[in-house]
Amino acid sequence: MDSDECITAVMIGAGNRGKDVYGQYALDHPHELKFIAVAEPHSVRRNQFARAHFIPSSGQYETWEDLLQSKIAEAAFICTQDRKHTAPALKALNLGYNVLLEKPMATKIDECILLTKKAEEVKKQLRIAHVLRYTPFFQKIYEIIQSGQIGDVITIDHRENVSYWHMAHSFVRGHWAKEKSSSPMILAKSCHDLDILYWLVGSSPRIISSFGSLTHFKPDNAPSGATKRCLDGCNSIDSCKYYAPRIYIDIIPLLRIAQIGGSRKVHFIANLALKHPRIFSKLKGLPLFRQVDAYQGWPVSTITEDLSIEGKWNALRNSPYGSCVYFADSDVVDHQVTIIEFENSVTATFTMHGHSHLEGRTIRIDGTKGTLIGEFLASGERIIFYNHLKETEDIIFNKKMQSRSGHGGGDLGLVESFIKSLHEETKEPLTSASASLESHIMAFAAEEARLTDNTIKMDEFKNRF
Ligand SMILES: NC(=O)c1ccc[n+]([C@@H]2O[C@H](COP(=O)([O-])OP(=O)(O)OC[C@H]3O[C@@H](n4cnc5c(N)ncnc54)[C@H](O)[C@@H]3O)[C@@H](O)[C@H]2O)c1
Repeated sequence: MDSDECITAVMIGAGNRGKDVYGQYALDHPHELKFIAVAEPHSVRRNQFARAHFIPSSGQYETWEDLLQSKIAEAAFICTQDRKHTAPALKALNLGYNVLLEKPMATKIDECILLTKKAEEVKKQLRIAHVLRYTPFFQKIYEIIQSGQIGDVITIDHRENVSYWHMAHSFVRGHWAKEKSSSPMILAKSCHDLDILYWLVGSSPRIISSFGSLTHFKPDNAPSGATKRCLDGCNSIDSCKYYAPRIYIDIIPLLRIAQIGGSRKVHFIANLALKHPRIFSKLKGLPLFRQVDAYQGWPVSTITEDLSIEGKWNALRNSPYGSCVYFADSDVVDHQVTIIEFENSVTATFTMHGHSHLEGRTIRIDGTKGTLIGEFLASGERIIFYNHLKETEDIIFNKKMQSRSGHGGGDLGLVESFIKSLHEETKEPLTSASASLESHIMAFAAEEARLTDNTIKMDEFKNRF
């Protein structure tokens, strides 16, 4: 395929990721990627996507089974929820599509293996959306390790600090709150981090253990007088940081914008609002300030299709996003620690928790020649390198504001890389399905270790499958 030819694609699942990440990429880069068909059961989303991408009615389907009857494009983007990945991905590969599949690739280990084998058998790409690999931040760390500056890597501490409001939104009230309908936290949220560890260490894991539980979001921790829904007369609305209007209508979206970027103007106003809430409340009627007050981006965009103020209040009255976090019946962990020793003797600890003030990852790598400390936060990114011999300290990566593209530039990098590798078929993609399989197996092993209080020897674990 010529490098200037536009890649045609079909979209399966035009929800948050399908529409706002991959759909948006095609709209921003019309000469690189064009969606020619969409499968989406939700009629409002299907129509919105079709309208935005000029897809005629003959290209609009309610479900992937109807769309995937024959190969009509080069690539299939599969962005359905966690438990609905395997069947459409297998069908798309069988039809000869190159597939970009959202993570986790599947929620069962045998399905992950099946998908990987199928991609190898049909010789098509199965790219899993492990977006962190494509961020300038983690690519820089990889480059530093490869350059030998750290020497031999000895040990890594990696943390995924999920902000308390993101935890409440996605993992207490939202899609990933219950394992039965999604997947365990270590797979749903942290397969990205296990993939990064596997990539940076450059070796397979030898042994894994893991501990953690759901501690906080339980009825016993509800303030007295709390009601099952925030708007049902709860008497703790002033003292509860999880009070739903605070997250979706009040100040937290501003915090989110301030951290993630938005336009410089919005970023400035959001910072001002956070530092001086009283001034902001006096000025928020002015046109410039109103665009912040009426914020409609993620996570607000996921609670309803009607993003008017009344629409948001309705969603908080009726959807899971208005539930009290203590009565939401979530069952996924809110903190988990995983300990790994790799075949090449590198050790790593990985902590995930949902009680952070800021959203983001932090990493520390100690080697025989140097120490690297990295902060990959929504509020900015920094890598500091300490040379042991010279006793120097250098800031080698410094971004005051995280990239405007999602996941610190990872979303953009992933799609660019996928498209590029479709043009240059001989070029090895940055990551393969089998590499993703390895990090998914780590997640399944860690979860088994957590649930059984055992240490898992990876060769025995893999032999079972
Ligand atoms: N790579 C990342 O960093 C990242 C970030 C967030 C979410 N995700 C993953 O992306 C996936 C999608 O997440 P989301 O937040 O966009 O979810 P979403 O619920 O917003 O979107 C999923 C869409 O799939 C549609 N769908 C359901 N059944 C379908 C069918 N039979 N055929 C076609 N479409 C169907 C739903 O109606 C929905 O619109 C999940 O697996 C999630 O874990 C990945």
